[in-house]
This record gives sequence, structure tokens and C-alpha cells, in this order.
Amino acid sequence: MCGIIGYLGPKKISSILIEGLKKLEYRGYDSAGLAVVNKGKLEIRRVKGKISNLEEIIRMSPIDGNYGIGHTRWATHGRPSEENAHPHRDCSETIVVVHNGIIENYLDLKKELLEKGHIFRTETDTEVIAHLIEENFEKNLEIAVQKAVKKLGGVFAFAVISSKDPEKIVTAKKGPPAIIGLGSDEYFVSSDLAPILGHTKDVIFLDDEEIAVIDKNGVQFMNFQGKTLSKKIDTITWDPIMVEKGGFKHFMLKEIFEQPRALRETLMGRISLDTGKIYLDEINLSPDFLRKISRINIIACGTSYHAGLVGKYFLENLTHIPVEVDYSSEYRYRDFILEKNQLNIIISQSGETADTLAALRIIKKNKGKTLSICNMKGSTATREADGVIYTHAGPEIGVASTKTFTTQLMALMLFSLYLAQVKNRFKKNEILTYFQELQRIPHKIESILYQSSKIENLAQKYFHYTDFLYLGRWVNFPIALEGALKLKEISYIHAEGYPAGEMKHGPIALIEEKMPTVAIAPKDRVYEKMLSNISEVKTRNGIVLAVAWEEDKEIREKVDEIIYIPSSHPLFTPFLTVIPLQLFAYYIGLKRGADVDQPRNLAKSVTVE
Ligand code: AGP
Repeated sequence: MCGIIGYLGPKKISSILIEGLKKLEYRGYDSAGLAVVNKGKLEIRRVKGKISNLEEIIRMSPIDGNYGIGHTRWATHGRPSEENAHPHRDCSETIVVVHNGIIENYLDLKKELLEKGHIFRTETDTEVIAHLIEENFEKNLEIAVQKAVKKLGGVFAFAVISSKDPEKIVTAKKGPPAIIGLGSDEYFVSSDLAPILGHTKDVIFLDDEEIAVIDKNGVQFMNFQGKTLSKKIDTITWDPIMVEKGGFKHFMLKEIFEQPRALRETLMGRISLDTGKIYLDEINLSPDFLRKISRINIIACGTSYHAGLVGKYFLENLTHIPVEVDYSSEYRYRDFILEKNQLNIIISQSGETADTLAALRIIKKNKGKTLSICNMKGSTATREADGVIYTHAGPEIGVASTKTFTTQLMALMLFSLYLAQVKNRFKKNEILTYFQELQRIPHKIESILYQSSKIENLAQKYFHYTDFLYLGRWVNFPIALEGALKLKEISYIHAEGYPAGEMKHGPIALIEEKMPTVAIAPKDRVYEKMLSNISEVKTRNGIVLAVAWEEDKEIREKVDEIIYIPSSHPLFTPFLTVIPLQLFAYYIGLKRGADVDQPRNLAKSVTVE
């Protein structure tokens, strides 16, 4: 998972590429580089580390031209170093490539190419692409690319330029995303929409096994067999301001505060208090199939997996259909069973997570029905699944998922209600109570966000602790997992999430005054049980920070710290309990001086296995 960018047009090339790369930096930040052709000469700048380092190099040694490509890297093959930074060159140093993905057969290809006399300079898999194109190059870059892609195994989205076939950018895709932006007399290639949005809203999503050829006359499309294609132009409604920090210190904080808006937008137009109906226009599943569903399997990674776990409670409670939740990385290797009337829900913010796509593809190959819950329009998951529910969170730049998590919960709740309605599970007007509760959520989140300074003070008090335990039960057990994940990834503090009832079966051995416990304890069906678990921690000198309902006086006596949230229908509490945990992780990360938007070793979307 890396970010690729390309530009052909009249604007200052280095600024366009650098600004674009900054917007893609969330995808990887081990090294960066760019290449432009200037007056027939190929020039390359590469650095180890972040885009700011590349910017500095370019400031000292400027680069100019009217077309070029750039890259920000998350290292897979070859350690992070300047030498392994993209763009990668062929032997003649006239062809350069930026690549996102993995060339699985690169060792075989490298051996073949070495035997033919090619000279390799890096440890990367990407370099074989440049040499393979060189090997197949006669006069025309796209024909060489067409021949090269046939030999490439694995997944890739790459952009290539050559001083031997000037004023042209050729992009090929098989797996990771590649988007073409169509401006007025200027053209873009990018791994996602963010770098393009400020310049044009007209884009074309490349599909797998397609090639785009940009030159000053426009863009031509063809498949890997060379057949010319006519592609649909999508107009994107996202505002470019959405990919700016808008006065916040970090994207993560901005995105936490955006949750009320993101949830309102995900809800908008989908429920009607007048008709009592839910409208999910793109699910593409017939009422007949929906009525027959006997089993649901949810598959996802990371935070999306935690949303899936919450979804299990929503669905089982409202529809009485049994639900299983799998990690995508495990699903593809287990002996899964697909029943005839089974629905498979794929959850992915990016729609590009390699393991999740692999699971989706195995299910489709076995004729299973698939529905994706996704935030990125035009992403692979949305194009390959039978149906989709979009989360309208807007672009999420912080590597830690926040607003996309709560909007995934919203999509899952809407689908659960929809399915329950199709199955006639509600008494007359009962659904309206749920609608009203859903509509109140954004406002309730706002009231939690007002307490951010209180949560910041708590972070000040606890940021030097090195271990945390997060406990929750029932619908808030996944929130314990999510709270712990947020703390780990943002602050590098060891944190474990556990179902509180399991504590006695092991983790209780860890309890002591140096390990605070975060207990999620709204007054729901497991409240009394949570109080017992809290007492068990306190009896062993543990510190307890509780998330509890505003009117709860009882818990006040039993814990060391308390963060109050508004009460709600018990099933809806995860929308609210997760908010203070996101803020707590953010402020602790900040106090510990961590790079909260771009935590070490991580990248926003994991497009490799
Ligand atoms: C969590 O904060 C991370 N961003 C990560 O766990 C993420 O949820 C996971 O990689 C899945 O990504 P996806 O939703 O884009 O598939």
C-alpha cells in the first residue's frame, strides 16, 4: 500500500505532485519520490522518510517540466531507504515507474531479466516493471506496458513515463485503485480522490486489467488485450475542503468532531418518519432473498471488524438471524461454509483492503451473495459486491478510523432495521421509535464532544501509564476492543480489550495499581455484571475509568474517574461509548508526542496481504 500520482498539464509540476503526495501520505510514509521529464531529460528526486523531506530536497534542487509521476511508500519488499524509494528506473534510465501493490513473481522475472543483461539497483519488486517495459519497448510506451502486464503476477496499479515516448503517462491497474482526473487541459492519475478534488470533480475509475494513456490530447483507455474501451465519467460531490484540516491540529481530531455531520449524512434520505420506511437504494438484494436469509457472515479487518462485531448484536437483536463475524485474513484460509440463503457482508472503509477483497472474491467464486459497506465511491469492494451501502463519512485522512467507524455502525443499524422490517418483525409504528432514536444520535455525540477538555485532562493524568485494560460486555464488548486498538495505534501504549466476563479467566492476573482499566458501563442489560467486574478490579488495587450514563450516581462511588455520556436505547450505546475512547486515545497520543495522524509502521489502507 503506497500512493501513486501523475500529472500532465500547464501547472507547476513539482507543486502539484508534492501537494498530491501530501494528501496520499496516509497510505505510507517510509519514503517518497518523483520524476519529471524536462526538455527531454528525465529527472528524479527521492528521499527516505516523509514528503516534507522530499519537499526540502526539491527546494534545494528544483525540478521542472509539464508531466511527471510521484510516489509515497509503505515498504513491503526492500527496506525503507532512498535507493528503494520510487520512482524506479530501467537500465537506460529513460523509463520510470511508480507502483502500488506487490509483484508476486518478481524473483522469477528478475532472474529472467538478469539473464538478458538487465542491471538491477534495488531490493524492490517494482524495479522489474521498469525493466520489463524496457525489454518490450519499441516505439510506443503503452504497447510496451501492454506486453509487460501480461507477465506480471500479483497486484498492481502503476504509472510510467518515458523520455523516449514523451508527453505521455501510462497507467495500468490490476488490484489497487487508480483514478484518472479530467481537468481542463490537464490530467491526473491518483490512488485516491484526495489529490484530484481541488482541481476537478470529473474522474474515471480504472477497472482491473485496464490501461489509461494520458497525453496532451486527452485520455485513451484499453484493456490488457489492447481493445479500446469507452469509460464512464463520474462526477464527485465531495468538497475539496474535506481533505484540509480546517483549523484542527490533526486530521484525527477533525474527523472525531465531524462525526455528528457524517452520521446525519449517512442517515439522510434513508429513513422516513412519514412512511415508516427505510430506503437503501443500492443494496441490490431482492425482498424475496432478504426474506429468506437464514444466516449472515460479516467479514472485515481492524476497526471495520469491530464495527462488524457490533453489527452482529444489532442484527441478531432486530432480525433474529444468526450472525458470524470473521477477520478477512482468517476467512480466506478457513473451511468456510456458504449456505444457500446466506448473506455475506463485507465492511471496508477504503474498499481496497487486500484480505477483505480476497474474502469477497472467494465468496463470489462460490456463488455467495455479497453486500459491501463502504466509504469510498468507486472502490473495488463497491464494484465487485452484489450491492452496497455507502457510509457518507467523507474522506478520512487520519490513519486511525473514527468517523468511518460510527458511520459503519449507522449503515449496519439501518440494514438491521430494514431487514427486520422486510421480515415483519415490528409491531405497528415500532420502527418509528428506532428512527427517532437514530435521529438523536448526532446531537448526543455533540454533547460528548463538548466534554473534550475534560477528557484531555484525564489524558494528562494517565498518559504516562504503559498498560491499559478495556472492558465491556454485550454490545459494548466490541467497543472495548476498538478503544484498546485506538490507544495502541495512536499512542503506542499496550492496551487490551476484553469482554468483561472473561476477565476472571486470565487478564485479572494483570490487575494492579499500574494498569488502569477503562470500563464501559451504560445502564443496559449487563450493567449489574459490569459493576461486579469493576469491584473485582478495585479489590485488587486497580484504577478504574468508567464510561457511564449521565444520571448514574451509583457508579460514581465505585470508580476513580468517570466520563458521562447521554443515555439512549441500550442497543444504540456503541455510537456514544466509542466517542470518549477516541478522544482519550487522541489526547494521550498527543501528550506522548506521537504522530497521531501517521502512526509508525501503519498505513491507512492495507492493499497487500
Ligand atoms: C484502524 O484505526 C485502522 N484504520 C485499521 O484497523 C482499518 O480499520 C483496517 O485496516 C481496515 O481498513 P478498511 O476498513 O479500509 O478495510
